[in-house]
Amino acid sequence: MIRGVIEGTGSCLPEYQLTNDQLEKLVDTSDEWITARTGIASRRIAGPGEETSKIAAEAARRAMAMAGVTAEEIATIIVGTMTSETTMPSCACLVQKEIGAVNAFAFDISAACTAFIYGLELADNMVKAYPDRKILVIGAENLSARVNWQDRNTCVLFGDGAGAAVVGGDDTGRGVLATRLFSDGRLGDLLYMNAAPSMNPHINNPYEKTDPAEAEDFDPARLGFPRTDNGSYIKMSGREVFKNAVLAMEDSIDKVLEDAGLSGPEIDWILPHQANIRILHNLGERIGVPKEKIFINIHKYGNTSAATVPIAFDEANRQGLLKKGDLILTCAFGGGFTWGAEIIRW
Ligand code: UT7
Repeated sequence: MIRGVIEGTGSCLPEYQLTNDQLEKLVDTSDEWITARTGIASRRIAGPGEETSKIAAEAARRAMAMAGVTAEEIATIIVGTMTSETTMPSCACLVQKEIGAVNAFAFDISAACTAFIYGLELADNMVKAYPDRKILVIGAENLSARVNWQDRNTCVLFGDGAGAAVVGGDDTGRGVLATRLFSDGRLGDLLYMNAAPSMNPHINNPYEKTDPAEAEDFDPARLGFPRTDNGSYIKMSGREVFKNAVLAMEDSIDKVLEDAGLSGPEIDWILPHQANIRILHNLGERIGVPKEKIFINIHKYGNTSAATVPIAFDEANRQGLLKKGDLILTCAFGGGFTWGAEIIRW
């Protein structure tokens, strides 16, 4: 059976590190609170030249170099992001241009923190149909541009970064063994980010649409623009999201383990979405995987949404932790809600 196998990984983090101590000067918070409640010590903040597509392209180059694949050989580019610097072209098309993947078709997917796993599932199915194709799956975010730096509930949590994987077809038993993906739009209000402010009234405030016909002259002020509180920042009901994240990820992991005919203790590594260290330790306990087998880098980068999982894959891979044949479990949870889990034989 042909399965999607990860042939190379790469990641790219912006240079600038923002520490908890620095945040203490910005909002009413403390290093002690952030570390104890989340596990985060610092996060990276993108500057000029580190736009989402730029760091995504660099992560892709590093993944292609490891896989020994040229840009011309890439058939498809899938980028999971909600913070591309453009809405059109897609971030994936920007990456395509940047790396010179002239033979690829490229598109973005929007699934918040679960987007990379959604992308891997798509890639796995694509190579099942076309085993010779090489597919770039990327997760990349510039969340610092979309957090409210006056909201201590969110601004301490997020960071910027990108990770990438080259996926190809393999029939030796390695690759994606099972995937379970879910979403529930009814819970969208608990974690959301409206479209960025725009002169288009429909986009400016999508939850309170104003009929443009009511305005005789186009008057942005009357239509509520510009506004600072129109929800274009990330907004989150942290405690509710926490509860749902634990239950949903546990459920998807149970299901994917069952699909693969495996039990928790058989897993060699969990490479999870990094949103909160307490969620991860909780999860490990519930499914019987010890802390030492859960890859953690949240202390360095915070929550980089779609990028956390591919960055974790790349760091674990480059640190030599992943051995051929290892059973790897990845899982994520994010706005939408979206969530899912996947098991890969490395
Ligand atoms: O990746 C997408 C999915 N996202 C997640 O999975 C995030 C899930 N949620 C979480 O990780 C946690 O809920 C948070 C880290 C966001 C918050 O931790 P918590 O233990 O759930 O805290 P809380 O929201 O229940 O707030 C406890 C207290 C509150 O004060 P009062 O009302 O008890 O006086 C907050 O106002 O902590 C306060 N607080 C803070 N204090 C200092 C909230 N943020 C901060 C802060 N610094 N940055």
